[in-house]
Amino acid sequence: MSAVLLDGKALAAKKRDELKSEVTKLKERGITPGLAVILVGNDPASTVYVRSKQKACEQIGIYSVLKELPASTSEEELLTEIDRLNNDPTIHGILVQLPLPEQISEQAVIERISPAKDVDGFHPISVGRMMIGEDTFLPCTPFGVLVMLQEANVEIAGKHVVVVGRSNIVGKPVGQLMLNEHATVTYCHSRTKYLTEITKQADILIVAVGRARFIDASHVKEGAVVIDVGINRVDGKLCGDVDFESVREVASHLTPVPGGVGPMTITMLLANTIQAAKE
Ligand code: GUN
Repeated sequence: MSAVLLDGKALAAKKRDELKSEVTKLKERGITPGLAVILVGNDPASTVYVRSKQKACEQIGIYSVLKELPASTSEEELLTEIDRLNNDPTIHGILVQLPLPEQISEQAVIERISPAKDVDGFHPISVGRMMIGEDTFLPCTPFGVLVMLQEANVEIAGKHVVVVGRSNIVGKPVGQLMLNEHATVTYCHSRTKYLTEITKQADILIVAVGRARFIDASHVKEGAVVIDVGINRVDGKLCGDVDFESVREVASHLTPVPGGVGPMTITMLLANTIQAAKE
């Protein structure tokens, strides 16, 4: 058996077409959705991500502004910039690309963004609303994973979802979203004992640890759905946290890297920005 591949690139293209029509409708009402992206310093990976976000906005008609600040920017200067954008009526969404230089507290920055413009879904108010199942901005990667599973008609309710990774950006919120969909959720992380015994019980295995090919076929139950959130570069080539070649022989569904979760992340940022403009 070879797994059905979940094509995030094709799904993202379809969703972006739908979002483009929504933007057109908003523009007819005199509203142009606006996204501000702040990049502090010149981390190469962040620079690439920010460019992709801007390009995606442009493609569907969202107005986007990029504010590039030097790596030496103080926390106070960044907070002042956020205040300015919080009060700018042409801007509906604000995204500060992480990581930030060490003199700046990420938490202080996240908490300064108005929850009404928190299209990353990182503000504690957004996180709290998600936790109690209220409508809110969902963080883009977990939201993208949810939409991929739904579009592939993978049943979540009652299933055992095992999440490997516990970051605030992916691991913790994706598990919470699965719980909201009535899954039984187990989190594994670097201190987990008997990892394989646990991952082998997963009906849906979501991997976000940031270590190339960390999960292989020996960790996966026959017929499981495997979602690979990792993006690693090995010998100049992109690969996920899942060993694609071995796992595709045991999984029923698998996301490739690249072309799986990645394209969905930016798509959900666009969706959140449009949602913010509507509100
Ligand atoms: N850095 C890595 N992923 C993300 C993300 O989803 N949002 C922001 N703001 N920074 C990131």
